[in-house]
Amino acid sequence: MDPLRNPFSPGAGAPPPELAGRDEIIQAARIALARVRLGRPEKSQMLLGLRGVGKTVLLNKISTIAEETGYLIAQMEAPEGQRLAEYLAPALKKVLVRLSKVEKAKEYATRAMGALRGFASAFKVSVGEIELGVTEAQTADSGNLEIDLPDLLLAVGSAAKAAEMSVALFLDEVQYLAEEDLRSLIVAFHRISQKGLPVILFGAGLPQVAALAGEAKSYAERLFDYPEVGPLQPDAAAIAVREPIHDEHQEIEDQALQHIVELTQGYPYFLQEWGKHAWHAAAKSPIAKADVDIASRSATEALDKNFFRVRFDRLTPREQDYLRAMAELGPGPHRSGAIAEMLQATVESVGPLRSGLIRKGMIWSPAHGDTAFTVPMFDEFMKRAIPSWERTAGAKRSRRRR
Ligand SMILES: Nc1ncnc2c1ncn2[C@@H]1O[C@H](COP(=O)(O)OP(=O)(O)OP(=O)(O)O)[C@@H](O)[C@H]1O
Ligand SMILES: [Mg+2]
Repeated sequence: MDPLRNPFSPGAGAPPPELAGRDEIIQAARIALARVRLGRPEKSQMLLGLRGVGKTVLLNKISTIAEETGYLIAQMEAPEGQRLAEYLAPALKKVLVRLSKVEKAKEYATRAMGALRGFASAFKVSVGEIELGVTEAQTADSGNLEIDLPDLLLAVGSAAKAAEMSVALFLDEVQYLAEEDLRSLIVAFHRISQKGLPVILFGAGLPQVAALAGEAKSYAERLFDYPEVGPLQPDAAAIAVREPIHDEHQEIEDQALQHIVELTQGYPYFLQEWGKHAWHAAAKSPIAKADVDIASRSATEALDKNFFRVRFDRLTPREQDYLRAMAELGPGPHRSGAIAEMLQATVESVGPLRSGLIRKGMIWSPAHGDTAFTVPMFDEFMKRAIPSWERTAGAKRSRRRR
């Protein structure tokens, strides 16, 4: 059908034509935002889920709601290997510039600018010119992030309160935060909640974030809510595909729709890819099951080329072996012992390899001693990428590369 009118949008953070099955998460975010605005105690939220389930899309949606309800927002993504101070300081500066324009908040905003200047110099990050209040005292500059970050965020929160405004921070890819950064952020939000300041954090990341936060500070469990962003339930998955087609005044046969829902297992990224290719394969409306069969081949190829491939290409040969051994065992989760056995190695000897893969965000540990892929259906991709792998060959390969 007409490619110009193809409504589907596979892609990282690409807004879907129909944001299906997320009403509960969005409603909880709305309530949290409204409560913070009213000065009520509210937990920050960490949206957790596998790759491609729609975490970024949700963060963007929540930040739009926040903006529409008058929030000042700071939107950030943690790049692998970069420190929080580097991107947090400029984002907070923008917020402070806005707050400094509110007459009744001037004094607090000036103080917060002093904190920002101190913070920026202590952590050697650039925030550009700070024009306002050249005379303000410099604070938040001890050089200890666990002290300075809370001080800075408290100063921002006090300025927001004085301005009778609220601030929402959005932080994507939380799993890439350095341990000290995550710990300091948790301490900061602990203090903010104790003081009842109008600042809230919405984070998003891979499921291991819950454990990372808990390890960083035991009270993190009580401080945050962790809404689970999973695959869509069959009804919602069907809506995600059917509605955009209807909006274009076209149809899809029920059998075809059910086939897409089953093949994708409700994973949002896959739904977009299958929707796009099914539309493309169909000569005319309604889209039929035969069109979906053709689409399956091209959708899988497209996923292999980008969604899966970008992750595969970041792996060392030994890491590829580890994941290929996991794939051999099936979709998972798998016992770490079983994977080591596949590689004809001990759990201890492949421990560092496993830790590295967790840091890269390729695998996570759903329970002690268990290992699972963070990318849905990655096992099938690994088998396509390395078709002829057998345990001795894999083990030999990895021994040679050691
Ligand atoms: N609720 C939804 N209904 C339909 N499609 C969705 C939904 N949520 C997300 N999508 C689609 O899924 C794809 C992936 O979304 P997004 O990039 O937000 O996932 P993510 O969880 O942030 O992935 P990653 O962990 O790789 O960053 C996008 O193409 C988006 O349009
Ligand atoms: Mg994302």
